[in-house]
Amino acid sequence: MDLDIAINTRASCRNFIDKKVPIRLLHMLLESGSKAPSAGNLQDFRFIIVTDEDKKKEIAEASLKQLWMADAPILIVVCSDLKNVIRFYEDRAEYYALQDVSAAAENILLKATDLGLASNWISVFDENVVRRNLRLPENVKPYIIIPIGYTKEKPRHRKRHSVETFISFNTFGNRKYDLNLFPIIKYKREEQKQDVFTLIKDKLKKRKSRH
Ligand SMILES: Cc1cc2nc3c(=O)[nH]c(=O)nc-3n(C[C@H](O)[C@H](O)[C@H](O)COP(=O)(O)O)c2cc1C
Repeated sequence: MDLDIAINTRASCRNFIDKKVPIRLLHMLLESGSKAPSAGNLQDFRFIIVTDEDKKKEIAEASLKQLWMADAPILIVVCSDLKNVIRFYEDRAEYYALQDVSAAAENILLKATDLGLASNWISVFDENVVRRNLRLPENVKPYIIIPIGYTKEKPRHRKRHSVETFISFNTFGNRKYDLNLFPIIKYKREEQKQDVFTLIKDKLKKRKSRH
């Protein structure tokens, strides 16, 4: 699938059908997750695959009772193994770890879309329940739960603001393009100017020929 199509068609799913995900596809998802950038290339992301029905139910309960999560055949719990991150980055460790796992999670969501799988991103959960449920060691912190499966629902594409809403140039809130930064825009403007010029010249020519 074209990357733009994956970006534009990914949508959060909250209604999974009873259909298993082939292990080959799961492997492709995790492979994509593992290719994400990470601070110092420490690759601290850890993916816990939860398929056990009781465990899924307990995790769904612990995620503000979003019980539909347990209908997904797979929950991928994206964790960070903080051991090395703390060693390298000390008090910045959790700040970097969160970014590492987020990059991995987005790769997984986009790959899921590419493979025709439905997904979501859950980060509201009782960490202690998830820790106990998955027997996570002290240094492994769960950050994101990704339910993965199939859906019959037509994906609902939530509206986004226009991209200009998010952009500033050089200083926050400055919406003016720097023409030196964007020679293409400058070129287009010059091209347009030229067009107007040619237009006027043509008009004058026509006028002259009429007289
Ligand atoms: C940090 C984060 C937490 C989220 N938590 C939940 C959640 O608890 N339950 C849920 O159904 N969706 C959750 N989502 C999904 C968002 O609701 C969803 O991405 C947003 O509404 C935009 O819709 P879309 O993903 O379909 O484009 C979360 C997304 C992010 C990034």
